[in-house]
Amino acid sequence: MQALANPVDARKGMVIYVLSKDEVIQLLNPVKDPFLHKTLEETAGVKEVTIKEDKKHVSVKVAIGKTNTAEQMQLQQQIVGILKKNGATTVGLRFEKLPDEVIQKYQPAVEKEQEASLMGGNTNTKFIAVSSGKGGVGKSTVTVNLAIALMRLGKKVGIIDADIYGFSIPDMMGVETRPVVRNEKIYPVERMGVKVISMGFFVEDNSPIIWRGPMLGKMLNSFFKEVEWGELDYLLLDLPPGTGDIAMDVHELLPTCKEVIVTTPHPTAAFVAARAGQMAVKTNHEILGVVENMAYFESEKTGEKEYVFGRGGGKKLAEVLKTQVLGQLPLQQPYEEEDVFAPSVYQEDHPIGKEYHKIAAKVIAKIEG
Ligand SMILES: Nc1ncnc2c1ncn2[C@@H]1O[C@H](COP(=O)(O)OP(=O)(O)O)[C@@H](O)[C@H]1O
Ligand SMILES: [Mg+2]
Repeated sequence: MQALANPVDARKGMVIYVLSKDEVIQLLNPVKDPFLHKTLEETAGVKEVTIKEDKKHVSVKVAIGKTNTAEQMQLQQQIVGILKKNGATTVGLRFEKLPDEVIQKYQPAVEKEQEASLMGGNTNTKFIAVSSGKGGVGKSTVTVNLAIALMRLGKKVGIIDADIYGFSIPDMMGVETRPVVRNEKIYPVERMGVKVISMGFFVEDNSPIIWRGPMLGKMLNSFFKEVEWGELDYLLLDLPPGTGDIAMDVHELLPTCKEVIVTTPHPTAAFVAARAGQMAVKTNHEILGVVENMAYFESEKTGEKEYVFGRGGGKKLAEVLKTQVLGQLPLQQPYEEEDVFAPSVYQEDHPIGKEYHKIAAKVIAKIEG
């Protein structure tokens, strides 16, 4: 700390000394903003100083790069310490955030880069989370095929397989390679024109792991920050199913995503899916719509539709969540192909492939239109 000219030293031990406003500013000017690593003088961070002389109470308003953090607590102690040492009996301290221009100007280059790559290198990336109340309803199938349909419509698309209960995206798309790690960056695998990253890539022998919220958070963070996505229009996330803590944690980690909710027509599935949807609402994620999967079975011979899992679940769910049904997909496997192994990807000319095309077009219209 820069020594204050003589008054303090000269009056050491004297209880009557009262700090002046200017002295307070001088004392605090050399203190560093813990985020911008610049002095409060450089950032003009000392905003207000008031002194009650009779009580020797100094109150200060300080603006810093980021508020309500552990660093702010430390800074608070530091400032109170300095002022008390120099004659204040009590100190009142308030923090506020510096104006964005100042933060922009002084923000360390590394952090700027990190922020940019959180959005996959460009801030235009739209996040779409695919969630469901329960497992087995086709959440991963929808993620994969929506991604591919968006790609077929000319979009640059990535998928994060974040369903920690079962990483299935790579198998569904027939991914056989692993991501390359170079210079602390992970390069996603590209398959059928879509970039894919899955925690499954980093787990030995498919062994199960017990996940806790913070670990999951770290994983997702590094998928955003350390993965070199390049330019992406859409990044789809296959979320863990359910409405418990883990699912809630993930929802909270994704500040700006929109959600597609998958259900089967069965009332039970739709009912739990409603809870998943409410979780999205609670975390301020806009619901793009509902996909009703396994909606019916259509006989190849007669063309008759059989509603094997019941009817109306998707519509009911959309009503409860005040959203729309984006599509109803029948029960049917993709065509078998000899040369492409991607067991869950519906071909462009497959009836379900065409349905996904429509769903993707609606999604684009909703987001970009
Ligand atoms: N419309 C459908 N027709 C036939 N099988 C489907 C359909 N949708 C999903 N499946 C199959 O159902 C199973 C569960 O789907 P999956 O996408 O893994 O569900 P989730 O991710 O919700 O657990 C998979 O074997 C998948 O291939
Ligand atoms: Mg799945």
